[in-house]
Amino acid sequence: MTDNMSAAIEKLGGRRVVDNRVYTDQRTYDREVERIFLRSWLFVAHESEIANTGDFVTTTLFGNPLLITRDRENKVHAFLNVCRHRGSMLVDEARGHCSAFRCPYHFWVYSLTGDLVGISQEAAYDGTGFEKENYPLIEVDCSIELGLVFVNLSKEHGTLRAWLGEELLETMAKPLGLAEFAVINSNPPQPIPVNWKVVTENGRDGYHVPFVHPFLRKASPPGPYRLFANGHAVQQLGADPAGFDPADWEYVATNPFPGLEVGDGWIVNLFPDTMIMLRWNMISIDFLRVLSPTESVMENRTLGLASDDDDVREVRRRNQRYWFANPIEEEDAPVFLKQQAGVSAPLLRFSVIARGADATTGTRGDDNRLRQFWDAWRDMMGLDENSGDGL
Ligand code: FES
Ligand SMILES: [Fe+2]
Repeated sequence: MTDNMSAAIEKLGGRRVVDNRVYTDQRTYDREVERIFLRSWLFVAHESEIANTGDFVTTTLFGNPLLITRDRENKVHAFLNVCRHRGSMLVDEARGHCSAFRCPYHFWVYSLTGDLVGISQEAAYDGTGFEKENYPLIEVDCSIELGLVFVNLSKEHGTLRAWLGEELLETMAKPLGLAEFAVINSNPPQPIPVNWKVVTENGRDGYHVPFVHPFLRKASPPGPYRLFANGHAVQQLGADPAGFDPADWEYVATNPFPGLEVGDGWIVNLFPDTMIMLRWNMISIDFLRVLSPTESVMENRTLGLASDDDDVREVRRRNQRYWFANPIEEEDAPVFLKQQAGVSAPLLRFSVIARGADATTGTRGDDNRLRQFWDAWRDMMGLDENSGDGL
């Protein structure tokens, strides 16, 4: 990249520019999959979605269909959702409940702990060297903190606790550790033809908020942000009643979670691709299914309290739409498309993320959370610059 840098760009130094080819380049994407996504802890579900023995949810991460379920000892497992016989997928549904998993092809049966427990017409394997103990479902590492279920597709990695870090966990423990939460809504997955970083960087770009979201400028003044290890960050948010229509404020200013007061709020950016919007009365977990250099799917889980009645759930869902889903869908998503179109232009090589002095805390309008994202990106990619050039 250095050879092609104009003098103006060179003055900024490598950390303050991004080579736009990282938003379209296939080789960069392949390296991201191998070095970032296959090695990071990735959010897949909230514990309440698999609250009971035999509950399951499914997803597909980078070509690997996964089945996340709870066994009879209450342990949560993530399995490759693929039969060990001739490779059929086991479960089609996005979620459900069962006492064992039966393959639709030749009806092999797997227990909730992944053991192969039933083979149709098993006698034909006698004397062939086939032993069913050797063919459990492939298990993927799965771990839970504060009710958030993550998987890690690599064999060698640290714990989820170490990945998130004690300080960040402590920050999220209010409110997540103070009550029992449950998924009260999942907005339909929303495919969007942009690079995953366009979406995830937007969650760290505080500079755009007053311009793209005029309502939030008044209604939700920012507090300081903090940067944590491994690329995670937290932006504190407030709420100003003067920024609301009084009729809206009437339902917005209700039902705070235990330990929170009306007005409390945080955005948690989890590297690489998850954002958790914590407001005093609703939690929106937004994450990506990354499909290719220019295709992502935005997914959502909205949390309320497990003990909420239907009316309170409705208030929380309405808040999630008001604070989060509407601004993202109506105001951010059109910008994602414009940015993707622009960074794809061969004649423009670099973007600039130079606002503000480097610091681990500060105000929303600087670019530190973006630079921190890229620091973590370079680190995992094993690259010196925000560029895939010369991989
Ligand atoms: S492929 Fe699953 S039982 Fe044959
Ligand atoms: Fe935004």
